Amino acid sequence: MVTVGNRKVVVVNMDGNLRAVGGVCAHQAGPVWMGGIFDDVRARVEDGQVVEYVARQRGVIACPWHGWEYELETGRCLWNSRYRIATYRVERDGEDGLAIWI
Ligand code: FES
Repeated sequence: MVTVGNRKVVVVNMDGNLRAVGGVCAHQAGPVWMGGIFDDVRARVEDGQVVEYVARQRGVIACPWHGWEYELETGRCLWNSRYRIATYRVERDGEDGLAIWI
């Protein structure tokens, strides 16, 4: 998490591709920057056994307060696309720097 002006921004390196999203949750302004990052895998389960994997969503961040999940690529909330967090253009700037367009 970095602070740019008065905004908290989460920067994630996804297999060499940088993504930057807003760090404040669209639900109750929870600290998305403290959330876990994972791939969301959906499966059809019968009798407690995975029958088939039906979808895999790369790069999701979950707010630690109530679990709302957002795509890192688009900022879209997974359970309701009316909600989203900001996304920002980000690039490497030199050896250790980042350039973020707010
Ligand atoms: S404040 Fe983030 S899920 Fe509720």
